[in-house]
Amino acid sequence: MGKKRVMVPVEDVDLSTVKYEKEPLHAPHLTGLVFSLFVRIVEAPLLGPWIMSKLKKQNKIDELLRNTVIPEEPMFIPEYPPQDEEPGVVIIDEDERPEDRVESALTCLPHYDPAASLGNSSTPFRYWKIRDYAYAYRSRNVTPSMVAENIISVIEEISGKKPPAPLLISFDAEEVRKQAAASTQRFEAGNPLSILDGIFMAIKDDIDCYPHPTKGGTTWLHEVRQVKKDAISVARLRRCGVIFIGKANMHELGMGTTGNNPQYGTTRNPHAPERYTGGSSSGPAAVVASGLCSAALGTDGGGSIRIPSSLCGVVGLKTTYGRTDINGSICDSGTVDIVGPIASTVEDVMLVYAAMVGSSPATKISLKPSPPCLPNLSSNNDSDVLGSLRLGKYTAWFNDVHSTEVSDKCEAALNQLSKGHGCEMIEIAIPEIHEMQISHLVSIGSECLSGLNPDCEDGKAKKLTYDSRTNLALFRSFTAADYVAAQCLRRRIMYYYMEIFKNVDVIVTPTTGMTAPIIPPRALQSGETDMVVAGYLMRFVIAANLLGFPAISVPVGYDKQGLPIGLQLIGRPWGEATILRLASAVENLSGESRKRPITYYDVLKAN
Ligand SMILES: *[C@@H]1O[C@H](CO)[C@@H](O)[C@H](O)[C@H]1NC(C)=O
Ligand SMILES: *[C@@H]1O[C@H](CO)[C@@H](O)[C@H](O)[C@H]1NC(C)=O
Ligand SMILES: *[C@@H]1O[C@H](CO)[C@@H](O)[C@H](O)[C@H]1NC(C)=O
Repeated sequence: MGKKRVMVPVEDVDLSTVKYEKEPLHAPHLTGLVFSLFVRIVEAPLLGPWIMSKLKKQNKIDELLRNTVIPEEPMFIPEYPPQDEEPGVVIIDEDERPEDRVESALTCLPHYDPAASLGNSSTPFRYWKIRDYAYAYRSRNVTPSMVAENIISVIEEISGKKPPAPLLISFDAEEVRKQAAASTQRFEAGNPLSILDGIFMAIKDDIDCYPHPTKGGTTWLHEVRQVKKDAISVARLRRCGVIFIGKANMHELGMGTTGNNPQYGTTRNPHAPERYTGGSSSGPAAVVASGLCSAALGTDGGGSIRIPSSLCGVVGLKTTYGRTDINGSICDSGTVDIVGPIASTVEDVMLVYAAMVGSSPATKISLKPSPPCLPNLSSNNDSDVLGSLRLGKYTAWFNDVHSTEVSDKCEAALNQLSKGHGCEMIEIAIPEIHEMQISHLVSIGSECLSGLNPDCEDGKAKKLTYDSRTNLALFRSFTAADYVAAQCLRRRIMYYYMEIFKNVDVIVTPTTGMTAPIIPPRALQSGETDMVVAGYLMRFVIAANLLGFPAISVPVGYDKQGLPIGLQLIGRPWGEATILRLASAVENLSGESRKRPITYYDVLKAN
């Protein structure tokens, strides 16, 4: 009795009275034998559901989903009315050929000076950009086949490591050589397909890339799900001449944010090999951060592109829900997941994004996307547009991090933006952050379980990691009514953000609340569950998934231990161009101080 709570209708909530509350996060940190015992218990009849209900009670999940009247109607996919066109942008026509879109994107980049990058080893460290490769190939210094051999020898060297820490789960040297030879021939004949011809990329293991199997980081998914062709996003890149080196390692089924994978080995952070890369796109971020590939594709349903990008010191773009076509990925039936690019610089993210962009036919009907746009960084009015942007910061949330080094570095980058370009900083307040986390958890969990159920019922669940099995036990405890309640929360929280977006153009946060965590040695074998670490890693990323917004993580410096820190920029629906413009400015302002990772491979060897 007396448990029922009634939420005030969202229009009546006074945003000026919002108080920030720290997350009440309660869950055990488990690894090793104890973790394996715990999994047996949570999977046991009666005892398992009882433990889950205790855990959910401690975290106020049932209180919110079952004891609360939420006055809003459900919102099952993040759907918005048409948005105003962003200022000073160039439309990238979805119906054009990907090769042509990349050419338009190229004219949006600042002037390229080869002398400033190639052949100048005295400058501070910087990554080779796509335009560096393109220049080297066109001036006949290097061929894609030569680069391919460099990459193959690195992969073969890594594959002998003990304990295993693979960047790739599926790799075939001959397949790479074949693609590289075809690209080399196109250069010899003087007709490369696009600026992306001969550019090396890795594809996360939950996206189809023919002829590789798609295992999603598991040991069995490829046995029940055949790959007959490329995913749509991969096919678009292949048309541009991209060479795919294989399937990048990941947190099993994307169900975790560290990148821990006891099945194949855990990918190490190129900046600190004893630390996690972050996940779930662990391999894609590490492949880019270690210099092995110019770019990679990842998926992001709960920060899975942005978290590892932040922890590994590279750039990761989570596109608006529905902006890219997720057809050919294992998470193609959810309402929070997208496919997006990871690269070492914003300009490379722009080039890959331009090639792969394009909504699915179904999305075009249901969500009516505004056309995809890019900022024209080479146009004279770029700095005017930049200066007109208003950045929203919720200081209490922004500062709720594990170490103030993270928030301080992000704050410093924002101060540079205000000083250097005149961007206005506006203090905002965001209500119901904990409600948002729960709504996201129930949405992604139920959608994921629904996709996996047939195979789990077929006995495959026992072949998953303890981590995945713990998550599935939690997801099974959610009811259909919980899912609907979560969708009512989605509509409610969407309203708050759209109110905020009336006054600001972009919301800024650190990408993660901590830098790369240490890998407990025992967790390599058994995996681990650590909700406190997960809480810090996911603290700022969820809104973009639940509400569909585009968001980007861009490096802004390092903590005292030399670990990368990322700034997150969250844009309006379909507003990729604005966050790309801002990210490019952030990169430019802090760009001179990029650190060479401990694990770095110069596969271009252009000097
Ligand atoms: C995915 O694409 C294929 C064509 O490549 C199409 O036949 C199929 O219906 C698509 N699936 C979805 C869910 O849109
Ligand atoms: C971007 O601006 C530059 C310089 O004004 C111009 O040459 C280029 O065509 C523009 N790009 C596009 C795609 O409009
Ligand atoms: C930053 O932008 C200025 C002006 O466009 C350019 O001259 C400079 O090279 C850029 N710096 C970096 C580090 O990209």
